[in-house]
Amino acid sequence: MPKANRRMQDIEVPGTRQFANRVEEFPDCVDLTLGQPDFETPQPIKEAAIDAINTQSMKYSHNTGLYALREAISNYYKDRHGAHYDPNGEVLVTVGGSEGIDGVLRAILDPGDEVIVPAPTYLGYEPIIELSGGITKFVDTTDTGLIATPELIERNITEKTKAVLLNYPTNPTGVTYTKEQMDRLVEVFRKYDIFVITDEIYGENTLEGDHISLAGYPEIKEKVLVINGLSKSHGMTGWRIGYVTGHRQIMEEVTAVHLYNTICASLPSQYAAIEALKHQLHVPGEMNKEYIRRRDYIYDRLTGMGLEVKKPTGAFYIFPSVEKYEHDSFKFCTELLETVQLAVVPGRSFSEFGEGHIRLSFACSMHELEEAADRLEKYLHMLEAAK
Ligand SMILES: Cc1ncc(COP(=O)(O)O)c(C=O)c1O
Repeated sequence: MPKANRRMQDIEVPGTRQFANRVEEFPDCVDLTLGQPDFETPQPIKEAAIDAINTQSMKYSHNTGLYALREAISNYYKDRHGAHYDPNGEVLVTVGGSEGIDGVLRAILDPGDEVIVPAPTYLGYEPIIELSGGITKFVDTTDTGLIATPELIERNITEKTKAVLLNYPTNPTGVTYTKEQMDRLVEVFRKYDIFVITDEIYGENTLEGDHISLAGYPEIKEKVLVINGLSKSHGMTGWRIGYVTGHRQIMEEVTAVHLYNTICASLPSQYAAIEALKHQLHVPGEMNKEYIRRRDYIYDRLTGMGLEVKKPTGAFYIFPSVEKYEHDSFKFCTELLETVQLAVVPGRSFSEFGEGHIRLSFACSMHELEEAADRLEKYLHMLEAAK
Protein backbone atom coordinates (compact mmCIF):
# COMPACT_ATOMS: atom_id res chain seq x y z
CA MET A 1 0.00 0.00 0.00
CA PRO A 2 1.35 3.48 -0.77
CA LYS A 3 2.57 5.32 2.30
CA ALA A 4 1.54 8.68 3.71
CA ASN A 5 3.89 11.62 4.01
CA ARG A 6 6.90 10.77 6.23
CA ARG A 7 6.08 13.59 8.61
CA MET A 8 2.76 11.90 9.41
CA GLN A 9 4.62 9.09 11.19
CA ASP A 10 5.26 11.41 14.12
CA ILE A 11 1.67 12.66 14.39
CA GLU A 12 -0.30 10.91 17.12
CA VAL A 13 -3.95 10.95 18.16
CA PRO A 14 -4.09 13.65 20.86
CA GLY A 15 -4.26 12.56 24.48
CA THR A 16 -7.53 14.44 24.92
CA ARG A 17 -9.16 12.34 22.18
CA GLN A 18 -7.66 9.08 23.45
CA PHE A 19 -9.31 9.66 26.80
CA ALA A 20 -12.57 11.07 25.47
CA ASN A 21 -12.91 7.91 23.34
CA ARG A 22 -12.40 5.64 26.34
CA VAL A 23 -15.13 7.44 28.30
CA GLU A 24 -17.74 5.54 26.26
CA GLU A 25 -16.49 2.27 27.77
CA PHE A 26 -17.63 3.41 31.23
CA PRO A 27 -21.36 4.18 31.40
CA ASP A 28 -21.13 5.74 34.87
CA CYS A 29 -18.16 7.92 33.95
CA VAL A 30 -17.77 11.57 34.93
CA ASP A 31 -16.11 13.26 31.99
CA LEU A 32 -13.90 16.28 32.65
CA THR A 33 -11.93 15.96 29.41
CA LEU A 34 -14.12 18.50 27.64
CA GLY A 35 -12.56 21.40 25.77
CA GLN A 36 -15.73 23.27 24.96
CA PRO A 37 -18.23 25.38 26.91
CA ASP A 38 -21.20 23.45 28.26
CA PHE A 39 -23.31 26.54 27.41
CA GLU A 40 -25.41 26.31 24.27
CA THR A 41 -25.09 28.97 21.55
CA PRO A 42 -27.43 31.85 22.52
CA GLN A 43 -30.76 31.82 20.67
CA PRO A 44 -30.38 35.23 18.91
CA ILE A 45 -27.17 33.95 17.31
CA LYS A 46 -28.94 30.84 16.05
CA GLU A 47 -31.80 32.96 14.77
CA ALA A 48 -29.45 35.28 12.90
CA ALA A 49 -28.17 32.24 10.98
CA ILE A 50 -31.67 30.93 10.29
CA ASP A 51 -32.81 34.33 9.11
CA ALA A 52 -29.77 34.65 6.86
CA ILE A 53 -30.41 31.23 5.30
CA ASN A 54 -33.92 32.41 4.43
CA THR A 55 -33.09 35.87 3.18
CA GLN A 56 -29.45 36.07 2.05
CA SER A 57 -27.41 34.57 -0.74
CA MET A 58 -25.67 31.39 0.34
CA LYS A 59 -22.98 31.46 -2.34
CA TYR A 60 -19.28 31.85 -1.55
CA SER A 61 -18.45 35.05 0.31
CA HIS A 62 -15.32 37.10 -0.29
CA ASN A 63 -12.34 34.86 0.52
CA THR A 64 -11.55 36.84 3.64
CA GLY A 65 -15.18 36.68 4.86
CA LEU A 66 -18.28 38.89 4.66
CA TYR A 67 -17.37 42.56 4.93
CA ALA A 68 -19.87 43.08 7.77
CA LEU A 69 -18.15 40.36 9.79
CA ARG A 70 -14.65 41.68 9.13
CA GLU A 71 -15.89 45.11 10.15
CA ALA A 72 -17.40 43.69 13.36
CA ILE A 73 -14.07 41.98 14.16
CA SER A 74 -12.16 45.19 13.45
CA ASN A 75 -14.54 47.17 15.71
CA TYR A 76 -14.23 44.56 18.43
CA TYR A 77 -10.45 44.99 18.50
CA LYS A 78 -10.75 48.76 18.41
CA ASP A 79 -13.22 48.85 21.31
CA ARG A 80 -11.62 46.17 23.45
CA HIS A 81 -7.92 46.71 22.82
CA GLY A 82 -7.53 50.04 21.01
CA ALA A 83 -6.11 48.10 18.03
CA HIS A 84 -6.52 49.13 14.41
CA TYR A 85 -7.04 46.42 11.84
CA ASP A 86 -8.42 47.43 8.47
CA PRO A 87 -11.37 45.16 7.59
CA ASN A 88 -9.94 45.20 4.06
CA GLY A 89 -6.66 43.34 4.17
CA GLU A 90 -5.96 42.94 7.88
CA VAL A 91 -8.81 40.66 8.99
CA LEU A 92 -9.39 37.10 7.80
CA VAL A 93 -12.37 34.93 8.78
CA THR A 94 -11.34 31.29 9.17
CA VAL A 95 -12.91 27.91 9.89
CA GLY A 96 -12.40 28.06 13.65
CA GLY A 97 -9.25 29.14 15.41
CA SER A 98 -7.81 25.82 14.18
CA GLU A 99 -7.73 26.91 10.56
CA GLY A 100 -6.18 30.18 11.67
CA ILE A 101 -3.34 28.30 13.38
CA ASP A 102 -2.80 26.16 10.29
CA GLY A 103 -2.88 29.09 7.86
CA VAL A 104 -0.54 31.27 9.89
CA LEU A 105 2.05 28.53 10.43
CA ARG A 106 1.99 27.38 6.82
CA ALA A 107 2.29 30.96 5.59
CA ILE A 108 5.39 31.75 7.63
CA LEU A 109 7.40 28.53 8.05
CA ASP A 110 10.24 27.27 5.89
CA PRO A 111 11.72 23.82 6.54
CA GLY A 112 14.00 23.92 9.58
CA ASP A 113 12.48 27.07 11.06
CA GLU A 114 12.02 26.97 14.81
CA VAL A 115 8.92 28.05 16.67
CA ILE A 116 9.29 28.78 20.38
CA VAL A 117 6.25 27.55 22.27
CA PRO A 118 6.01 28.13 26.04
CA ALA A 119 4.72 24.88 27.54
CA PRO A 120 2.67 23.12 28.86
CA THR A 121 0.47 24.25 26.01
CA TYR A 122 -2.38 23.38 23.65
CA LEU A 123 -1.72 20.19 21.73
CA GLY A 124 -2.83 21.61 18.37
CA TYR A 125 0.35 23.51 17.51
CA GLU A 126 3.12 20.92 17.32
CA PRO A 127 1.56 18.73 14.57
CA ILE A 128 0.96 21.74 12.30
CA ILE A 129 4.46 23.10 12.90
CA GLU A 130 5.94 19.70 12.07
CA LEU A 131 3.73 19.20 8.99
CA SER A 132 4.93 22.60 7.78
CA GLY A 133 8.53 21.39 8.09
CA GLY A 134 9.18 23.50 11.16
CA ILE A 135 10.65 22.51 14.51
CA THR A 136 8.72 22.97 17.74
CA LYS A 137 10.88 24.29 20.52
CA PHE A 138 8.85 23.85 23.69
CA VAL A 139 10.22 25.93 26.54
CA ASP A 140 9.52 24.87 30.08
CA THR A 141 7.46 27.33 32.12
CA THR A 142 7.01 25.11 35.17
CA ASP A 143 9.70 27.01 37.09
CA THR A 144 8.34 30.44 36.17
CA GLY A 145 4.75 30.14 37.36
CA LEU A 146 3.58 28.60 34.05
CA ILE A 147 4.18 31.82 32.12
CA ALA A 148 6.85 32.77 29.62
CA THR A 149 9.26 35.32 31.03
CA PRO A 150 11.34 37.62 28.79
CA GLU A 151 14.50 35.81 29.94
CA LEU A 152 13.06 32.43 29.01
CA ILE A 153 12.08 33.60 25.53
CA GLU A 154 15.34 35.43 24.88
CA ARG A 155 17.46 32.50 26.03
CA ASN A 156 15.78 30.28 23.44
CA ILE A 157 15.98 32.58 20.42
CA THR A 158 18.50 31.39 17.82
CA GLU A 159 19.20 32.37 14.22
CA LYS A 160 16.68 29.66 13.23
CA THR A 161 13.81 31.13 15.26
CA LYS A 162 10.94 32.21 13.03
CA ALA A 163 8.25 32.79 15.61
CA VAL A 164 7.18 32.70 19.21
CA LEU A 165 3.74 31.19 19.72
CA LEU A 166 1.84 32.26 22.82
CA ASN A 167 -1.53 31.04 24.03
CA TYR A 168 -3.24 32.90 26.86
CA PRO A 169 -5.37 32.44 28.80
CA THR A 170 -3.59 29.14 28.47
CA ASN A 171 -4.97 25.73 27.72
CA PRO A 172 -4.30 23.59 29.84
CA THR A 173 -3.11 25.68 32.81
CA GLY A 174 -5.64 28.54 32.92
CA VAL A 175 -2.87 31.09 33.48
CA THR A 176 -2.82 34.47 31.79
CA TYR A 177 -0.58 37.54 31.67
CA THR A 178 -0.79 40.90 33.40
CA LYS A 179 -0.17 44.16 31.55
CA GLU A 180 3.22 44.46 33.20
CA GLN A 181 4.25 40.94 32.18
CA MET A 182 3.10 41.56 28.60
CA ASP A 183 4.93 44.91 28.44
CA ARG A 184 8.18 43.16 29.37
CA LEU A 185 7.66 40.44 26.75
CA VAL A 186 6.93 43.06 24.11
CA GLU A 187 10.31 44.66 24.85
CA VAL A 188 11.93 41.38 23.79
CA PHE A 189 9.72 40.97 20.72
CA ARG A 190 10.68 44.48 19.57
CA LYS A 191 14.34 43.52 19.43
CA TYR A 192 14.11 40.49 17.14
CA ASP A 193 13.07 39.99 13.56
CA ILE A 194 10.59 37.21 14.35
CA PHE A 195 6.83 36.73 14.26
CA VAL A 196 4.74 36.59 17.39
CA ILE A 197 1.71 34.36 16.98
CA THR A 198 -0.79 34.82 19.75
CA ASP A 199 -3.71 32.45 20.19
CA GLU A 200 -6.21 34.42 22.26
CA ILE A 201 -9.20 32.16 21.78
CA TYR A 202 -9.86 32.22 25.53
CA GLY A 203 -9.39 35.99 25.78
CA GLU A 204 -13.06 36.57 26.60
CA ASN A 205 -12.83 33.85 29.24
CA THR A 206 -10.57 35.94 31.44
CA LEU A 207 -11.70 35.33 35.00
CA GLU A 208 -9.59 37.96 36.78
CA GLY A 209 -8.37 41.33 35.55
CA ASP A 210 -8.38 42.30 31.88
CA HIS A 211 -7.22 40.32 28.91
CA ILE A 212 -4.15 42.12 27.56
CA SER A 213 -4.10 41.38 23.85
CA LEU A 214 -0.92 41.61 21.83
CA ALA A 215 -3.10 43.39 19.29
CA GLY A 216 -2.89 46.38 21.63
CA TYR A 217 0.83 46.99 20.95
CA PRO A 218 1.06 48.98 17.69
CA GLU A 219 4.85 49.17 17.98
CA ILE A 220 5.12 45.48 17.02
CA LYS A 221 2.09 45.26 14.73
CA GLU A 222 4.09 44.06 11.71
CA LYS A 223 5.26 41.01 13.70
CA VAL A 224 2.06 40.01 15.47
CA LEU A 225 -0.54 37.57 14.15
CA VAL A 226 -3.55 37.26 16.43
CA ILE A 227 -5.69 34.13 16.33
CA ASN A 228 -9.15 34.32 17.84
CA GLY A 229 -12.65 32.97 17.34
CA LEU A 230 -16.11 32.46 18.73
CA SER A 231 -15.89 28.79 19.74
CA LYS A 232 -15.14 29.41 23.40
CA SER A 233 -16.51 32.93 23.93
CA HIS A 234 -20.02 32.19 22.69
CA GLY A 235 -20.43 28.42 22.99
CA MET A 236 -20.04 28.13 19.22
CA THR A 237 -17.56 25.26 18.74
CA GLY A 238 -19.72 23.59 16.10
CA TRP A 239 -20.18 26.71 13.98
CA ARG A 240 -16.49 26.78 13.09
CA ILE A 241 -15.79 30.50 13.04
CA GLY A 242 -12.39 31.90 13.88
CA TYR A 243 -10.36 34.82 12.65
CA VAL A 244 -6.82 36.06 12.18
CA THR A 245 -5.71 39.67 12.31
CA GLY A 246 -2.33 41.13 11.45
CA HIS A 247 -0.36 43.55 9.33
CA ARG A 248 -1.63 43.58 5.74
CA GLN A 249 1.66 42.41 4.25
CA ILE A 250 1.74 39.06 6.06
CA MET A 251 -2.06 38.75 6.04
CA GLU A 252 -1.86 38.58 2.25
CA GLU A 253 0.13 35.35 2.55
CA VAL A 254 -2.12 33.90 5.27
CA THR A 255 -5.12 34.70 3.09
CA ALA A 256 -3.53 32.89 0.15
CA VAL A 257 -3.23 29.69 2.23
CA HIS A 258 -6.84 30.08 3.38
CA LEU A 259 -8.08 30.72 -0.15
CA TYR A 260 -6.63 27.45 -1.48
CA ASN A 261 -7.59 25.55 1.65
CA THR A 262 -11.21 26.50 2.24
CA ILE A 263 -12.21 29.35 -0.18
CA CYS A 264 -14.28 30.91 2.62
CA ALA A 265 -15.88 30.05 5.95
CA SER A 266 -19.46 28.73 6.04
CA LEU A 267 -21.97 31.47 5.19
CA PRO A 268 -24.71 30.74 7.80
CA SER A 269 -21.97 30.67 10.45
CA GLN A 270 -20.57 33.99 9.28
CA TYR A 271 -24.01 35.59 9.73
CA ALA A 272 -24.28 34.04 13.19
CA ALA A 273 -20.86 35.48 14.03
CA ILE A 274 -21.94 39.00 13.01
CA GLU A 275 -24.77 38.78 15.56
CA ALA A 276 -22.38 37.45 18.22
CA LEU A 277 -19.87 40.27 17.76
CA LYS A 278 -22.36 43.08 17.27
CA HIS A 279 -25.09 42.31 19.80
CA GLN A 280 -23.99 39.46 22.07
CA LEU A 281 -20.75 40.67 23.58
CA HIS A 282 -22.25 40.43 27.08
CA VAL A 283 -22.51 36.63 26.74
CA PRO A 284 -18.94 35.65 27.75
CA GLY A 285 -19.19 37.78 30.91
CA GLU A 286 -22.32 35.88 31.93
CA MET A 287 -20.60 32.54 31.32
CA ASN A 288 -17.58 33.74 33.27
CA LYS A 289 -19.67 34.30 36.41
CA GLU A 290 -20.50 30.62 36.36
CA TYR A 291 -16.93 29.57 35.48
CA ILE A 292 -15.65 31.59 38.46
CA ARG A 293 -18.07 29.82 40.81
CA ARG A 294 -16.92 26.44 39.51
CA ARG A 295 -13.24 27.44 39.46
CA ASP A 296 -13.40 28.50 43.11
CA TYR A 297 -15.13 25.27 44.08
CA ILE A 298 -12.71 22.91 42.30
CA TYR A 299 -9.66 24.92 43.38
CA ASP A 300 -10.73 24.62 47.03
CA ARG A 301 -11.40 20.92 46.67
CA LEU A 302 -8.04 20.20 44.99
CA THR A 303 -6.04 22.21 47.51
CA GLY A 304 -8.09 20.52 50.26
CA MET A 305 -6.81 17.18 48.91
CA GLY A 306 -3.27 18.49 49.33
CA LEU A 307 -2.61 18.83 45.59
CA GLU A 308 -0.33 21.55 44.35
CA VAL A 309 -2.23 23.73 41.89
CA LYS A 310 -2.19 27.26 40.52
CA LYS A 311 -5.53 29.07 40.63
CA PRO A 312 -6.62 29.66 37.01
CA THR A 313 -7.26 33.26 36.00
CA GLY A 314 -8.65 32.36 32.58
CA ALA A 315 -10.10 29.64 30.32
CA PHE A 316 -12.01 26.77 31.98
CA TYR A 317 -9.25 24.38 32.92
CA ILE A 318 -7.31 23.62 36.09
CA PHE A 319 -3.99 21.80 36.10
CA PRO A 320 -3.02 20.21 39.42
CA SER A 321 0.17 18.28 39.98
CA VAL A 322 -0.25 14.60 40.85
CA GLU A 323 3.51 14.14 40.93
CA LYS A 324 3.53 13.06 44.57
CA TYR A 325 1.37 10.06 43.62
CA GLU A 326 2.53 9.31 40.09
CA HIS A 327 4.92 10.92 37.63
CA ASP A 328 3.46 9.17 34.58
CA SER A 329 0.28 11.16 33.89
CA PHE A 330 -1.03 8.66 31.32
CA LYS A 331 -0.74 5.87 33.89
CA PHE A 332 -2.40 8.01 36.55
CA CYS A 333 -5.31 8.94 34.26
CA THR A 334 -5.83 5.40 33.00
CA GLU A 335 -6.00 4.02 36.53
CA LEU A 336 -8.22 6.88 37.69
CA LEU A 337 -10.63 6.12 34.85
CA GLU A 338 -10.64 2.38 35.44
CA THR A 339 -10.88 2.58 39.23
CA VAL A 340 -13.37 5.40 39.93
CA GLN A 341 -14.65 6.19 36.42
CA LEU A 342 -13.36 9.73 36.28
CA ALA A 343 -11.96 10.93 32.93
CA VAL A 344 -9.39 13.74 32.90
CA VAL A 345 -6.55 14.51 30.50
CA PRO A 346 -2.94 13.48 31.17
CA GLY A 347 -0.63 16.47 31.45
CA ARG A 348 1.88 14.92 29.06
CA SER A 349 -0.63 15.55 26.24
CA PHE A 350 0.41 19.20 26.57
CA SER A 351 4.13 18.54 25.99
CA GLU A 352 6.67 16.76 28.15
CA PHE A 353 6.58 19.75 30.54
CA GLY A 354 3.01 18.87 31.50
CA GLU A 355 4.10 15.49 32.85
CA GLY A 356 3.11 14.79 36.45
CA HIS A 357 -0.07 16.88 36.04
CA ILE A 358 -3.67 16.33 34.99
CA ARG A 359 -6.09 18.72 33.27
CA LEU A 360 -9.62 19.00 34.59
CA SER A 361 -12.16 21.00 32.61
CA PHE A 362 -14.80 22.91 34.55
CA ALA A 363 -16.95 23.43 31.46
CA CYS A 364 -19.43 21.03 33.04
CA SER A 365 -22.27 21.25 35.55
CA MET A 366 -21.62 21.99 39.22
CA HIS A 367 -23.10 18.60 40.03
CA GLU A 368 -20.59 16.84 37.76
CA LEU A 369 -17.77 18.85 39.26
CA GLU A 370 -18.77 17.85 42.80
CA GLU A 371 -19.00 14.21 41.80
CA ALA A 372 -15.64 14.40 40.03
CA ALA A 373 -13.98 15.93 43.09
CA ASP A 374 -15.48 13.20 45.32
CA ARG A 375 -14.19 10.48 43.01
CA LEU A 376 -10.72 11.98 42.77
CA GLU A 377 -10.55 12.30 46.55
CA LYS A 378 -11.67 8.71 46.98
CA TYR A 379 -9.01 7.55 44.52
CA LEU A 380 -6.26 9.50 46.27
CA HIS A 381 -7.34 7.97 49.60
CA MET A 382 -7.03 4.54 47.99
CA LEU A 383 -3.50 5.38 46.83
CA GLU A 384 -2.59 6.65 50.32
CA ALA A 385 -3.97 3.47 51.91
CA ALA A 386 -1.99 1.29 49.50
CA LYS A 387 1.32 3.03 50.33
C1 LIG B 1 -5.78 27.12 22.71
C2 LIG B 1 -6.73 26.68 21.65
N1 LIG B 1 -6.63 27.22 20.43
C3 LIG B 1 -7.46 26.85 19.44
C4 LIG B 1 -8.45 25.90 19.64
C5 LIG B 1 -9.34 25.52 18.49
O1 LIG B 1 -10.47 26.30 18.48
P1 LIG B 1 -11.57 26.23 17.33
O2 LIG B 1 -12.68 25.36 17.83
O3 LIG B 1 -12.02 27.64 17.15
O4 LIG B 1 -10.94 25.68 16.11
C6 LIG B 1 -8.58 25.32 20.90
C7 LIG B 1 -9.61 24.29 21.14
O5 LIG B 1 -9.67 23.64 22.16
C8 LIG B 1 -7.70 25.72 21.94
O6 LIG B 1 -7.80 25.22 23.18
